[in-house]
Amino acid sequence: MKEKEILDVLRQLLKNSYSPYSKFRVAAVIVTDSGNIYKGCNVENASYGMTLCAERVAATAAVSAGEKKFRQIFLITDSAKPEFPCGACLQFLAEFNPKLKITTYAGDGRKKSAKLSDILKSKFKF
Ligand code: THU
Repeated sequence: MKEKEILDVLRQLLKNSYSPYSKFRVAAVIVTDSGNIYKGCNVENASYGMTLCAERVAATAAVSAGEKKFRQIFLITDSAKPEFPCGACLQFLAEFNPKLKITTYAGDGRKKSAKLSDILKSKFKF
């Protein structure tokens, strides 16, 4: 899938965000080695701590479909500037690929990219 197409998918997906509390929408697309894509958006709850981040929704969709080889993740948020995933999501994603390429867009299409291991220097493991 071309990046332009992924951005279109992200923009559509952002509309599904359930974020009545924060009013901050996030959407994520994970591309696996097979070339398939898995989608997620943030899903909030009145019991705030139960909120699910978009990245983890996309990751669990991929794993549930039997795909654990994550190649790249794309994000979009409502933010004025592109934002990387939260620390919890970096840890969650590092489980499957510590070198995952992350590309994140602001609402206006501006983007930045990084390798997961450059943002999360030390993932938790035992
Ligand atoms: N959120 C995500 O979906 N991903 C992140 O990496 C950080 C935050 C969501 C959770 C909540 O619904 C909203 O953004 C504000 O924190």
